[in-house]
Amino acid sequence: MDYFPIFLKLKNQHCLVVGGGDVATRKVQSLLAAEANITLVAMRLTPLLDQWLQEGKISCRHREFTSTDLYGKSLVIAATASSSLNQRIFAEAEVIGVLANAVDDPDYCRFVTPAVIDRSPLVIAISSGGTAPVLSRMLRQQIETLVPAAYGRLARFAGNFRDRVKSSLSSMGARRHFWEEALAGPIADAVLNGNESEAATLFNSELEKQSHGHTRPEGQVSLIGAGPGDPELLTLKALRLIQQADVVLYDNLVSQPVLNLVRRDALKISVAKEKGHHSKSQEDINSELIKLAGQGKRVCRLKGGDPFIFGRGGEELTALAEAQIPFQVVPGISAANGCSAYAGIPLTHRDHAESVTFVTGHKKHNGELDVPWSSLVNNRQTLVFYMGLTSMPMICEQLQAHGLAHDTPAAAIQQGTSADQQLIVSSLAGLVSAAKKAQLRSPTLIIIGQVVQLAEKLHWFGELSA
Ligand SMILES: C[S@@+](CC[C@H](N)C(=O)[O-])C[C@H]1O[C@@H](n2cnc3c(N)ncnc32)[C@H](O)[C@@H]1O
Repeated sequence: MDYFPIFLKLKNQHCLVVGGGDVATRKVQSLLAAEANITLVAMRLTPLLDQWLQEGKISCRHREFTSTDLYGKSLVIAATASSSLNQRIFAEAEVIGVLANAVDDPDYCRFVTPAVIDRSPLVIAISSGGTAPVLSRMLRQQIETLVPAAYGRLARFAGNFRDRVKSSLSSMGARRHFWEEALAGPIADAVLNGNESEAATLFNSELEKQSHGHTRPEGQVSLIGAGPGDPELLTLKALRLIQQADVVLYDNLVSQPVLNLVRRDALKISVAKEKGHHSKSQEDINSELIKLAGQGKRVCRLKGGDPFIFGRGGEELTALAEAQIPFQVVPGISAANGCSAYAGIPLTHRDHAESVTFVTGHKKHNGELDVPWSSLVNNRQTLVFYMGLTSMPMICEQLQAHGLAHDTPAAAIQQGTSADQQLIVSSLAGLVSAAKKAQLRSPTLIIIGQVVQLAEKLHWFGELSA
């Protein structure tokens, strides 16, 4: 290891930056975040440096660097345009024991400044020891997406309870186990969801239990929208919870690439409700969720699209609420959003549609559709039918019978957002035969309305069959 990683407390420490250009500006910005006392030596300043000077955040000596500038400083950054001057500043700082960094010149650095993910008080620093700063920055971007923005709040919350945990749990192993559960389960989620009083209540009761030797943590259920197929459409929160789950119950609409993101050692249970043969009834699913969470498991209930749009999310949550199981909901991209975006069909458009309506195409036991047809007949409204493949002939027929023009543009999108997406664009009168010809299968979404005509110009993903 070329550099020993440490974090320096620079609050109110005298630091020197030599140079007044863009690089110096970035360095000063980092030092300001650390609340250092900054002196700048530069003839000319960038507008931002000048602003900080006017605001009294930094002081400046408008002249050339001299050795005396280093006296009394804890740290110096040489950020001038002249590498020989930067090297000289480094050499002089070394002689008097001031930590020095000549920017972009690893041989003349006693320390390097890492790429930082700041969730203060939690800070992650990445360094390539000055060899590949761009690589460090790329890695930082990846980590940024994985560490929730509210982790700083979680770190502060943990800090407030640290002494209490230490005095309640004498063994280090017990403390570690406690913290591992607390920082990944319902307590952490309550903090991240902005509910610190609930988190404190859970924390205290968990600590009380564990200090009396009850080690089983409280379970919870996360009802998560897995989106329409493309795993990159998952939210960051969904990804984090999927990867933390001990057990995942998933529907048949959840795509394989999304399932691949589940932790390898987690239990995966399919509760697919295939058309015609329900492998598990809704009641069975509710009971399974309650049972698993009751065993202290972190349960992820993964549903295609969004759980609150034709997803029975409300029914499952009602059962959990009645059983007093803690839960949270993570919305997903619904099929309407995903399919329309990937088909190039804006659901509303100033020239074509002021409203959009999501409708179920699922037939009742008597074979009828429970749909208010007259309210759907409006040339400036977009209609999105879910579960409408089998009932497509009835949908198209009823809409025309109630007055929607037979040449209204209509689209059917199969397996939207996945590599197997199929997009059919036709008219209301021609949609059924076009879908038949293309042998569309489930899941298929139907979009009807003037906005569909835009697909011809705006479709960008996969093929379009007209
Ligand atoms: C029971 S609903 C679930 C809807 C889901 N909760 C959502 O928000 O997208 C199932 C219907 O959603 C539509 N659907 C879901 N994913 C789809 C996809 N990738 N492509 C096309 N349609 C999809 C189909 O109409 C399917 O029959």
